[in-house]
Amino acid sequence: MKLNVAINGEAKEFDIHPKDMLLDVLRDDGYTGVKRGCSTGDCGACAIILDGKAVNSCILFAAQAEGGKITTVEGIGNPKVPSPVQREMTDAGGIQCGFCVPGIVVSATALIDENPEPTEDEIREALDGNLCRCTGYVKQIEAITLAVKETRKTRGARLGVA
Ligand code: FES
Ligand code: FES
Repeated sequence: MKLNVAINGEAKEFDIHPKDMLLDVLRDDGYTGVKRGCSTGDCGACAIILDGKAVNSCILFAAQAEGGKITTVEGIGNPKVPSPVQREMTDAGGIQCGFCVPGIVVSATALIDENPEPTEDEIREALDGNLCRCTGYVKQIEAITLAVKETRKTRGARLGVA
């Protein structure tokens, strides 16, 4: 069967089996920022944004994404042009081994896109499904809080109210 989706703004068509999982389709196509951790929907390493919501791609059949708009961590930013969340994760020391980081960046980005002024509790809630074995989350929450402030400034400047 065919799967038609937009990935990071690019229209893509895949030949898939009905039982293919979205994580495999993405990784096979080179989106290796989407990590495989548990494969059971428990760790958040495979998070992507599908039609505005952060979802775990390891428990989603690829066919369920038909017609959808997917953002992977590669579409959020890159080392040369990092997003505010990516920059603050680095600057605030929210990265140790780094395995959880793409998923955390995806979850935080989906949150800020939907709710540009999240409280700390809302940030914690958004990261509920992302497991990090290294950091204890403190630096990561701090990084996302700083990214919210940075995004607010950028938005204010755009609107002429900064
Ligand atoms: S690999 Fe998907 S939630 Fe862990
Ligand atoms: S930085 Fe190692 S799992 Fe999060």
